[in-house]
Amino acid sequence: MFHEIPKSVLERMHVLEQIDAQDRASGKVRLERLRQVPPETGRFIALWAAASPSGSIIEIGTSAGYSTLWLALACRATGRTLTTYEILAPKARLARETFEQAEVLDVVNLVESDFLQHSVEIGDVGFCFLDAEKEVYEACYEQVVPKLVTGGILIADNALSHQEDLQPMLDRALADPRVDAMIVPIGKGELVCRKR
Ligand SMILES: C[S@@+](CC[C@H](N)C(=O)[O-])C[C@H]1O[C@@H](n2cnc3c(N)ncnc32)[C@H](O)[C@@H]1O
Repeated sequence: MFHEIPKSVLERMHVLEQIDAQDRASGKVRLERLRQVPPETGRFIALWAAASPSGSIIEIGTSAGYSTLWLALACRATGRTLTTYEILAPKARLARETFEQAEVLDVVNLVESDFLQHSVEIGDVGFCFLDAEKEVYEACYEQVVPKLVTGGILIADNALSHQEDLQPMLDRALADPRVDAMIVPIGKGELVCRKR
């Protein structure tokens, strides 16, 4: 999966890494920044997605599609596809450009909409990466966990970088009898939950 990343994917990843770094340096307003995961988190979620049980692979919060490219590698390696949800039109436009240029449209389905409007349609979920606005984490968690298959994985980003904002949701997950959960200190802190 990581040893033979297609050139088209690598090139687009590098472009997005540069835009993300410029965004952070320039002090651009928060909602306009890409705010994407670092590469080690990309690898981490790809490994978990590739190892996840059957069921759909979903992502909540696409931005320009950087984390989606890592998940697309997992899908290519395992013969699966993924659906990613993005609420903001300018971000969805960039993501579409990403998926075209990286040539991953065969494995990625982009839904330009609020995930919470679609949560009833998602069916059985094998893997979910949650990386949206922190205000909707708890609602997303409550919508996704019942849909996870046994052994299904939910990973939520920013568990350490936004620990204070996310504390109610983190407390809920860590004490939730439906899942086994822990926070892994890589990248911005990843909450990993496995459905019991
Ligand atoms: C931190 S960024 C995602 C970064 C991306 N996962 C990556 O690593 O490349 C969060 C994104 O979630 C989107 N978002 C926020 N709330 C959402 C919702 N309810 N449904 C879908 N997307 C949402 C925001 O517009 C923003 O683009």
